[in-house]
Amino acid sequence: MMAECTRTVYLTLMLLYLVLLGTAHTAHSIYPRIRLSNKELWQLNRTWVFQGHGASLQPQTMLLDEGHERLYVGAKNTLFSLSLDRVNTHHQEIQWASTEYQIEECLMKGREKPECANYIKVLQQYNQTHLLVCGTGAFNPICALVRVGHTGQDRLFALEEDSITSGRGRCPYDPNSPCMSTLSRGELYIGLYTDYWENDGALCRLNNQTYTRTERDDRQQLNEPKFVGSAVIPDNDDRDDDKVYFFFTEREMDAEGVNKAVYTRVGRVCANDQGGQRMLVNRWSSFLKTRLICSVAGPNGIDTHFDELEDVFVLKNKDGKNPEIFGLFSTTSAVFKGYAVCVYHMDDIRAAFNGPFAYRERPEHHWTPYEDRVPYPRPGSCASKVNGGGFSSSKEFPDEVLRFVRSHPVMYRPVLPHHRRPVLLQTESGKRRLTQIAVDRVQAQDGHYHVLYIGTDDSVVLKVITIYNKDTDTMEEVLLEELQVFKVSAPIREIIISPKRQQLYVGSEVGVAQVRLHQCDLYGSECADCCLARDPYCAWDGLTCSRYYPAGVYTKSRRFRRQDVRHGNAVQLCNGLQIDDEESEERLVYGVESNSTLLECVPRSLQAKVLWFLQKEGEKHEIRGDERVIMTSHGLLFLRVRSSDAGVYVCQTVEHGYVNTLLRITLHVLRGERVESAIHTTNDEEGEKAGAPCHSSSAGPPPGPSISPRALVPSSVPGRHSRLWYKEFLQLIGYGDAQRVEEYCERVWCTDKKRKKTKRRYVSPGGEKRGKGRGEENSNRAPRHTLDT
Ligand SMILES: *[C@@H]1O[C@H](CO)[C@@H](O)[C@H](O)[C@H]1NC(C)=O
Ligand SMILES: *[C@@H]1O[C@H](CO)[C@@H](O)[C@H](O)[C@H]1NC(C)=O
Ligand SMILES: *[C@@H]1O[C@H](CO)[C@@H](O)[C@H](O)[C@H]1NC(C)=O
Ligand SMILES: *[C@@H]1O[C@H](CO)[C@@H](O)[C@H](O)[C@H]1NC(C)=O
Repeated sequence: MMAECTRTVYLTLMLLYLVLLGTAHTAHSIYPRIRLSNKELWQLNRTWVFQGHGASLQPQTMLLDEGHERLYVGAKNTLFSLSLDRVNTHHQEIQWASTEYQIEECLMKGREKPECANYIKVLQQYNQTHLLVCGTGAFNPICALVRVGHTGQDRLFALEEDSITSGRGRCPYDPNSPCMSTLSRGELYIGLYTDYWENDGALCRLNNQTYTRTERDDRQQLNEPKFVGSAVIPDNDDRDDDKVYFFFTEREMDAEGVNKAVYTRVGRVCANDQGGQRMLVNRWSSFLKTRLICSVAGPNGIDTHFDELEDVFVLKNKDGKNPEIFGLFSTTSAVFKGYAVCVYHMDDIRAAFNGPFAYRERPEHHWTPYEDRVPYPRPGSCASKVNGGGFSSSKEFPDEVLRFVRSHPVMYRPVLPHHRRPVLLQTESGKRRLTQIAVDRVQAQDGHYHVLYIGTDDSVVLKVITIYNKDTDTMEEVLLEELQVFKVSAPIREIIISPKRQQLYVGSEVGVAQVRLHQCDLYGSECADCCLARDPYCAWDGLTCSRYYPAGVYTKSRRFRRQDVRHGNAVQLCNGLQIDDEESEERLVYGVESNSTLLECVPRSLQAKVLWFLQKEGEKHEIRGDERVIMTSHGLLFLRVRSSDAGVYVCQTVEHGYVNTLLRITLHVLRGERVESAIHTTNDEEGEKAGAPCHSSSAGPPPGPSISPRALVPSSVPGRHSRLWYKEFLQLIGYGDAQRVEEYCERVWCTDKKRKKTKRRYVSPGGEKRGKGRGEENSNRAPRHTLDT
């Protein structure tokens, strides 16, 4: 543990460093309202982590089974069944490793040892009692059914040995191969590379009778696809009209057939597609695709396109017909790595598929809308009553229709995102990579909000809401929380959300974590803290910041609730509940002439703007900072303090127009030489022990609000000696006032400060009640962590 004294020095050095970097920090970077380290999440009981057997777990796929209250995790050589209550208790597992013989065969094919294992890539709920599970089987894919559920008290979880079959065409060979699947009405829809060499990317449907897929080697249909997601989405009440949507990226071909740009696609087929009778036998007779656009307009009129789909989340609505589709995209540009989230509505997707087909004479030509006659029934439509009922199956479609769909699989119109822009953007280079997305729809007092959970490559989950402003046609991102769900830095591979349980299940190669969606009391213990947080899960109930339930859910306990997610207008909402200026915390700080001095003031919210005032003769003068007095994220830094700087400094925060006085600091400036000599004398006499007082206090509980003079005495020094030391110190300093000396010592050696009032309290992550506004106690912020460790 680092002594607090060294910490002070570090703090100052760090600050100077930050000042030098100063302008490099852009004002655009968004800060989370609250940042929680992995340790803090643990202390708050907000997370549980399942780590398997210590060796890296490498989950490939996860499946939520709310009916049986389990989370299934397909990993390397093992299938796990975890408890949804607590992922780290009462788990079950099925070992399903490849045999020695299979591994040997795999090695002989020239594969590496780690690849020659059974990585479970497909995991679907087959029916009420069984899961369909497929693994790479050391480059020899296999599938099996797994029994789940209960018999009486016993929880069932067993592989049906006699159900093991070849997984060819149902599971990729390579553990790193992208693959996505959906199971609906006993049929598995899957996008995968079906062969050992990864040449044959295909979108397939399997049931126990048929195998329907995209055409082999047809680069118009699929060209080097990367499969990201899929979903079955009904168009209307006629189930024969249900469509299956696939989300993937592929390369657009140019004139010479040389590969070029990567595009994101949405493709679709009819769920009841039986293929053709004479042509397109066991091939889709309804496959169409179009481009998904996610872009921002540049100042020069050139749009920046985010063309690489990283992840997709389908947020279901009540009737299932109009889910909202959230895509997480990255740019393929070599210049910078940026990320964007775009939202698509089904209306727009359907409109694109109902629009003109794309046509080009030759590959080197531009695409144009196809304007000739389109055969009947319209290519891509399903054999259903809604479409006239003239055809009972796609096998009855005229050859002309099949020929057309085969040669025109691309729609002319792309799908534009809702509001024609991303809802979230990260364009700063050098920042973390975004890997996964999950979304919750939350009912708040002023409407419903989408809460986005975004996984990063460094074990973090960002919790964000985005608010569209109609009047200004702008999008506002509010970063509510930044949660470090794993101790070790690893990319988040999977995020599953359980709105029912209000939990998030997060997978990375080091484990599976469960995290509660919200913890309202963390935002603070006052109305304003709660309102300014703008978390749609939370509202001020008159006493605390707590979970918000829409009216009617808990009518009995419906107290008055204050919440304003859209504007975070604490001034209006918390009117009359504001803290009196007079009640703000007060501190004394001693600076040494010509030395640097920091007036520390860090608001709990990383989003608040800090203002400093110097109070003189009843007047408040705002401090704007100059080359000597610098406003830093830790507080006001005097590079060389002068005796004329002495006075009362007021630290205020402004957030959404809400002004809060955090503290008043009285700065005393001591004359330089006296202190110099005092320090030198003590250093000479006591050597390294000069810093010892802090050691003694840091070993115990955190320093309390007041430290007795005795605490300043080096603990290892015998009594008589220490009294002498203390006395000498007093004299050397030239102060008769013991109280002041004590405070000065604290300033020099320990970061501890004297507090006069501790009225405003909140529960810190450690669970202890502590005062508010003090930097080192308020551990929910980033800068502290860099200094603490
Ligand atoms: C977390 O749980 C433990 C044991 O159940 C309990 O002792 C502790 O007080 C809890 N901490 C918080 C912050 O709720
Ligand atoms: C689920 O499928 C398996 C295998 O086909 C079958 O044995 C089992 O009876 C089915 N369960 C239900 C509830 O239909
Ligand atoms: C699969 O085959 C069984 C028996 O042959 C049949 O009862 C069942 O309906 C079939 N399932 C599907 C989805 O076609
Ligand atoms: C004050 O600054 C001087 C030189 O900048 C340094 O030598 C001295 O140690 C500092 N004194 C204190 C108490 O920080």
